[in-house]
Amino acid sequence: MQVFNHGAEWQKKWLQALKTDKTIGFVPTMGALHEGHLELIRASKKSTDLTVVSIFVNPIQFNNQEDFDKYPVLTTQDLKLLQKENVDFVFLPNQEAIYPKKPIINLDFGYLERVLEGKFRPGHFSGVGIIVSKLFNIIRPDIAFFGQKDLQQVAVIKKVVGDLSFPLKVNIVATVREKDGLALSSRNMRLSTQERRKALILFNNLEFAKNELLSGKNWLAIRKQIMLAFEAEPLAKLDYFELVHPETFQIYQEFDRSEKSFICVASFIGNVRLIDNLPIIP
Ligand code: PAF
Repeated sequence: MQVFNHGAEWQKKWLQALKTDKTIGFVPTMGALHEGHLELIRASKKSTDLTVVSIFVNPIQFNNQEDFDKYPVLTTQDLKLLQKENVDFVFLPNQEAIYPKKPIINLDFGYLERVLEGKFRPGHFSGVGIIVSKLFNIIRPDIAFFGQKDLQQVAVIKKVVGDLSFPLKVNIVATVREKDGLALSSRNMRLSTQERRKALILFNNLEFAKNELLSGKNWLAIRKQIMLAFEAEPLAKLDYFELVHPETFQIYQEFDRSEKSFICVASFIGNVRLIDNLPIIP
């Protein structure tokens, strides 16, 4: 496994030598790796010749300073995990290598900025769009891998790739869950034992809503019942619980089996903000 810290090193020393006939899979991460990231890596290793993983906690995608300050950094442990997965290359830049100057551009994803994550985390998607563009320009992958857990991020990244004509494919990998259903996230390690138990309120209500919807109950009535359940849990603070189209993020007021539909949720559990989603009609 080769670790490099500068884009120029990758491009001069490796990329030119490799690019002739090998396909490059790329898994961008912010580190604190878990089984969800490892599934992205396994998907990349299955479908490409060489896998590059980046680890970079991107400051410009955090709309909350405390969230950035408390974001777990576990580089030594991460590198061991990547070595075990036989990753070929790891890009581990410092802030200076990525942002010698603070970027002055902003990306605006239109309607996607006004709903769900876009609405609750102003500036977040601009930060994601800028970092993935930089990383795509540096690594020049053939396929980039992202998790379905960040469903709206996937929609944003597909816009970046399409609108800016990046010559690469975006592959999506299903959400990995703990045995009890909690979606894996680097933020889970910030939950106390009690919060970890309460965090199941997200997955349990997604499952409940899915079953109720599929048995013919009215969506808005289900949603109201779920909002009351969140209100009754002192450790939870619900940002949204919505039924949406998974690409346009149009919010549905009623369930239509002929339309692609996912339920998306975001809630604080204590000070930790968690998101999750469940496909109803994929
Ligand atoms: O999903 C993440 O971990 C981050 O948003 C990403 C895509 C690595 C960009 O910083």
